[in-house]
Amino acid sequence: MLDITFAKSALPKSGALALLLEEGGGPDSPTGALWKAADDATGGAVGRALAAAEFKGKKDQTVTILAPGAGLSRVVAVGLGKLSDLTQHAAEEAGGHAAVALTKEPAAAIAAAGLSPVQAASAALGAVLRNYRFDRYRTKEKPEDKPKLAKLTVLAADPAKAKATFDPMQAVADGVYLTRDLVSEPGNVLNPVEMAERCRRLAKLGVKVEVLGPKEMTKLGFGALMGVAQGSANEPRMVTMHWNGAAGTRRARARPLAFVGKGVTFDTGGISLKPAAGMEDMKFDMGGAGTVIGLMAALAGRHAKVDAIGLVGLVENMPGSNAQRPGDVVKTYSGQTVEVINTDAEGRLVLADLLWYCQQKYEPRFMVDLATLTGAMVISLGHEYAGFFSNDDDLSQQLHAVGEVTGEKVWRMPLADAYDKLIKSDIADMKNIGGRPGGAITAAQFIKRFVNGKPWAHLDIAGMAWTSNDAPTVPKGATAFGVRLLDRLVANHYEG
Ligand code: BES
Ligand code: MN
Ligand code: ZN
Repeated sequence: MLDITFAKSALPKSGALALLLEEGGGPDSPTGALWKAADDATGGAVGRALAAAEFKGKKDQTVTILAPGAGLSRVVAVGLGKLSDLTQHAAEEAGGHAAVALTKEPAAAIAAAGLSPVQAASAALGAVLRNYRFDRYRTKEKPEDKPKLAKLTVLAADPAKAKATFDPMQAVADGVYLTRDLVSEPGNVLNPVEMAERCRRLAKLGVKVEVLGPKEMTKLGFGALMGVAQGSANEPRMVTMHWNGAAGTRRARARPLAFVGKGVTFDTGGISLKPAAGMEDMKFDMGGAGTVIGLMAALAGRHAKVDAIGLVGLVENMPGSNAQRPGDVVKTYSGQTVEVINTDAEGRLVLADLLWYCQQKYEPRFMVDLATLTGAMVISLGHEYAGFFSNDDDLSQQLHAVGEVTGEKVWRMPLADAYDKLIKSDIADMKNIGGRPGGAITAAQFIKRFVNGKPWAHLDIAGMAWTSNDAPTVPKGATAFGVRLLDRLVANHYEG
């Protein structure tokens, strides 16, 4: 993890320096203080290089100048766009661009002159988020090919204030890293048992962790979850994580918030087997659970003043000799029965039991579930927005708002009786698929049948948990989508 420190603004005597520069502002503008210093120290080399590169400070514009003199190994100019338009997210993106340009430098500084403490801290967060890499299984990479950036000093007008702002952001970044690590792990390593063990490690942050195995879940009557699990030699687990941070606040006696995640550690489709091409992607089918776990780590790590519960259902969907069959009828924890038409529509079966359990046991203030639930969601919104479904307009409004500020964008999708009708069964209370049209919606309607009037939102993150392209604050691979969104939902609307 990138080590971040904050210091007073001054031109470093050696090493690398990234300048965060506003659009149209020259070396005499507020953000240009160290540009001017670097320019003076290098006999104008920095200014000449930026002019030659036609650097204008536009958002996402980056120019690297190698060895400009004055002992500097590298000066990087990163455009911020107009300072008046500089949102927290845009500052993060600038930090992300800087991290990329500095990747060959073991230690570097980043000049946040003219930025507020929040903007300086956000730039640091962006650098940390972009600097993530999962390299546990690379044994032969040559040292010169490895990224080196390990220490970053943020030069700010008020370093103490910027650091105080950054500290909770660091906890959120830790949560994001945890989620990305989990989602990146292959299915042979991260089976349900191993994933539950990783949850247990949250105890060191003050999270109370409870783990249930197949015996307990069978006894409780989790027929839907256990039906999915029965085709695998790897036992299922359900993990409950409690973060109790509300004590002493005015919300000390409020009901907890609940976050529920689909944790299918690998989804072969079961007997309704998926095609071979691309099946390897289904190691990320525990992405919803991964986000819930990272979120709990973030809330605990920054001592959020809130009571929150994270609940994850960990199963592997395999076509073993004891696997459930298409046509099987299972009895869910709610008592409702389900005809399993397609064993590949397994995530909703797992969530059905978890959501009912969550309400019965904890009577939460709201429930937000996250799941890589449907391919249809990817067809609907692509990889730009996660779709969400909700029975509550306030919660929907809040989710939309925090999506815009974090850049983890979400778009509300419809629920309606006409869609619910599509999951009627001839033999049981419902069937687990509703056909191809509106596939993400009928999946949400299915889940809604296990919501007992509580405010609830279901985030289908099928298109968002993994990315094949680098983005400014998200390297390609596991994204940890939802950690920052829900952390901000808690911070802005439910804390203290
Ligand atoms: N995990 C998949 C959904 C998925 C597909 C996520 C592609 C990310 C990328 C889910 O369990 C699934 O298989 N859904 C089926 C449902 C269908 C059988 C009704 C799907 O979307 O094809
Ligand atoms: Mn599936
Ligand atoms: Zn799945």
